[in-house]
This record gives sequence, C-alpha cells and structure tokens, in this order.
Amino acid sequence: MLLRTRGLKVHFPIRKGVVKRTVGHVRAVDGIDLDIREGETLSVVGESGCGKTTFGQALLRINDPTEGQILFRDRDGQDLDLTALDKAGLRRTRTDIRMIFQTPFASLNPRRRVVDIIGESLRNAGMRNETQVRDKVASLLQPRVPDALPLRLLRR
Ligand SMILES: Nc1ncnc2c1ncn2[C@@H]1O[C@H](COP(=O)(O)OP(=O)(O)OP(=O)(O)O)[C@@H](O)[C@H]1O
Ligand SMILES: [Mg+2]
Repeated sequence: MLLRTRGLKVHFPIRKGVVKRTVGHVRAVDGIDLDIREGETLSVVGESGCGKTTFGQALLRINDPTEGQILFRDRDGQDLDLTALDKAGLRRTRTDIRMIFQTPFASLNPRRRVVDIIGESLRNAGMRNETQVRDKVASLLQPRVPDALPLRLLRR
C-alpha cells in the first residue's frame, strides 16, 4: 500500500470572546480511512467546505491531524507514519508527496521567471548546483508526447 489513512481527523477550534476561549470545533475532516495502491488514482469529490483541501493538507502535514494515522511507503519501501515525523523527516517526504494548487494566478508569481519558480522546489529539496537545477527544469518542461500520436495532430 502506497498510502493508508486510519481514523484521520482534523478539527479546528472555534474561538470566541476577548480571551479567545474555545467554544467548539469545526470537524473539517472527521475520520477518513482509505488505501491507495501504487499506480492508483483517487479522486475526492464533495460540496464546497466538506474538507477536501483540509484532508490534502493533513497528508502533507500543512495542517497537523488532530487524530489518526497516515502511513506512507517511501521510495526505500519503508512504511512511515507521517503523523510521527519530525521536521527533517517531513522534508524528505516532501519530495514524494506534493500538492498542486488549482489557481495558477495564486501559485505562480508573474514577476518571477519560470525557471526560478519551478527550480525553487528543487533547491528546497537540496539541489545546490544551479546548472543542474536549470537542466532539470528544462527537462521537466519538455512536452511528453506519446510516440504514436501523428505529428499533424500536434502542429496546429
Ligand atoms: N484554518 C482553518 N481554521 C478554521 N476552519 C477551517 C480552516 N481551514 C478550513 N476550515 C473549515 O473547514 C471546513 C473544510 O474546508 P475545506 O477548505 O477543507 O473544504 P473544501 O472541501 O476544500 O472546499 P472547496 O470545495 O470550497 O475547496 C470548512 O468549514 C472551512 O471553513
Ligand atoms: Mg478546497
């Protein structure tokens, strides 16, 4: 199993008053059990506010889960409990688990060059050699075209 969650919950406190007393919780994610095998794609569908984004953020530990387990098989075949990882451990898994944000206008800064925006995640992941960063970005930007597709369909 590539990814497995058990009883995953993310509750946000609702605070009121001058002392910001916690008067209740928004149960944004309230007990998700799922399994994703390697090569499998899972779509989560639901009305606005039902917790899809919060669930994704919990998998990345952008929001720490209130309760539950997230088991992830890393590239060495080790099963990690992501809820128990420290900062360094999390940084390592960030090269394997990613969030792709929906709105290009919010996630891509038009004042920055594409090579810098894409290269940033490579640098964050530890790639120090700038030539290597540029080469990798260039190769990621190459269109992946299925061999079988006739050229006339591509050139319009
Ligand atoms: N940081 C936060 N603090 C408090 N409440 C939050 C926080 N983030 C999300 N929520 C609440 O948790 C619930 C789930 O929100 P979430 O953004 O995960 O929904 P969604 O399914 O992604 O919605 P959409 O389809 O609109 O993107 C909502 O009620 C939202 O207001
Ligand atoms: Mg959302």
